[in-house]
Amino acid sequence: MRFLITAGPTREPLDPVRYLSNRSSGKMGYAMAEAAIDAGHEVILISGPVDIDRPRGAAVIPISTSDQMFRAVHQQARNCDVLVMCAAVADYKPANVSKSKIKKRDASLSLELIPTPDILASLPKQDRQYVVVGFAAETENVEANAQKKLQEKHCDVVVANDVSRADSGMESDENEVTILFRGGEIKKLSRAPKKIVARELIKIFANVSEKRLTKKIA
Ligand code: C5P
Repeated sequence: MRFLITAGPTREPLDPVRYLSNRSSGKMGYAMAEAAIDAGHEVILISGPVDIDRPRGAAVIPISTSDQMFRAVHQQARNCDVLVMCAAVADYKPANVSKSKIKKRDASLSLELIPTPDILASLPKQDRQYVVVGFAAETENVEANAQKKLQEKHCDVVVANDVSRADSGMESDENEVTILFRGGEIKKLSRAPKKIVARELIKIFANVSEKRLTKKIA
């Protein structure tokens, strides 16, 4: 099976030396890429800037901004069976990018931010040939917010995790996730190293893709 996985943060430039970003380490996405390769799948990894070695056997497409990630996902999605949007894409970017370094002044400085394109929501909603998996990193009402994301972004599966906990989520080596399926089913995976969680998730996604293929053939 062909997996397209996005990982890590995006960087939204303010000027030639500054950017807005987030604390995503990329660990979960890279663990998913490794788990998919170990399970014998083909992997293309679209990665924001992270400090992890590239997974052996994956084709890596490095990107920096949300616009670059948008273009890379749209170019690659039609050739995959499962798209896993693990990346923490910035929700906002500076309205203007200064060509020169912004100078320090005594007065306060306000930044105007505009929404970035929502990649998941921009994918075709009907007759998609591939399974779409979204991630929901939440600090409150985890399940309700993930359910909303599943509907609004037309995902087949959403993996939700509580990033308010220090021992699970963004920069941690462990994760505890709840998986919501389009059909209404909900499955919880208990806290475990990201590598173990990733292995389980890859099995689950491959299963969803296989079931869909069998349905189409039948
Ligand atoms: O809305 P929120 O950012 O919490 O949604 C998270 C999910 O949406 C993740 O799967 C992330 O990769 C995806 N996303 C996206 N485009 C954005 C922001 C988030 O595809 N601009």
